[in-house]
Amino acid sequence: MIFTVAIDGPAAAGKGTIGRAVAQQFGFQHLDTGLLYRAVGALGGDPVAAAEGLVPEDLARPDLRSLAAGAAASRVAAIPEVRAALLAFQRRFARMEGGAVLDGRDIGTVICPEAEVKFFVTASPEVRAHRRWLETGGDAADVLAQVIARDRHDAERATAPMVAAPDALLLDTTEMSISAAVETAASAIRIRI
Ligand code: C5P
Repeated sequence: MIFTVAIDGPAAAGKGTIGRAVAQQFGFQHLDTGLLYRAVGALGGDPVAAAEGLVPEDLARPDLRSLAAGAAASRVAAIPEVRAALLAFQRRFARMEGGAVLDGRDIGTVICPEAEVKFFVTASPEVRAHRRWLETGGDAADVLAQVIARDRHDAERATAPMVAAPDALLLDTTEMSISAAVETAASAIRIRI
C-alpha cells in the first residue's frame, strides 16, 4: 500500500509528536524532515555540497536539537539548491511501499502534493515557545523571540515557504492534549485508508 501522511506547520506545534504516534499506530515509516535541514546547517561549509552528500550518520549528531541548530537549518532551508538536493530522497520516502508519515514545512505543498492525508498543525506562539523552552531551557523571552523569528523566515522565503496546503486539515494544538491531537489525526487517517 502506498499511503502518505503529510504534516506541516511551525516550530514546536506538535508535528513530530503526532507524526511519530500515528506512524506507530498504523505501522508506517516516519521521517522528521527538519532533521535533514538541521544536519545540513550543522555540517557547515558549502550547504549545497553538504545537502548533496548527506549520509544517515549526519542525522545522528547530538547537537541538532538546539535553538542555534534550528536557526542554522532555517538559513540553509531558504537556499533553492539545498531544497532541490533533498527533494528526491523525501519523495521516495513519501511513496515507499507500506505507508509513510513525513513532517516538515512543505510536505503537503511541494514534497508530496498527492499525499492521501495532509495536516497543518499550529498552536499559539506562546504555547509553542513554552514547549520549546521546556526542552532547551534558557531565557524564555529569548526562546519566544527566536521561535517567532524562525517562523517568519520560513513563511516569507521565496522557495517552498511554510504554508498550509489548500486541502490540509487544520489542527490547532494550543489547548489540546497530546493524546487528543493524536486521536484527531488518527481518525482522519483511518477514514481515508
Ligand atoms: O522542524 P524543525 O524545527 O526541525 O525544522 C528546522 C528548520 O528546517 C525549519 O525552521 C525550516 O526552516 C526547515 N525545514 C524546511 N522544510 C521542511 C522541514 C524543515 O524548510 N520540510
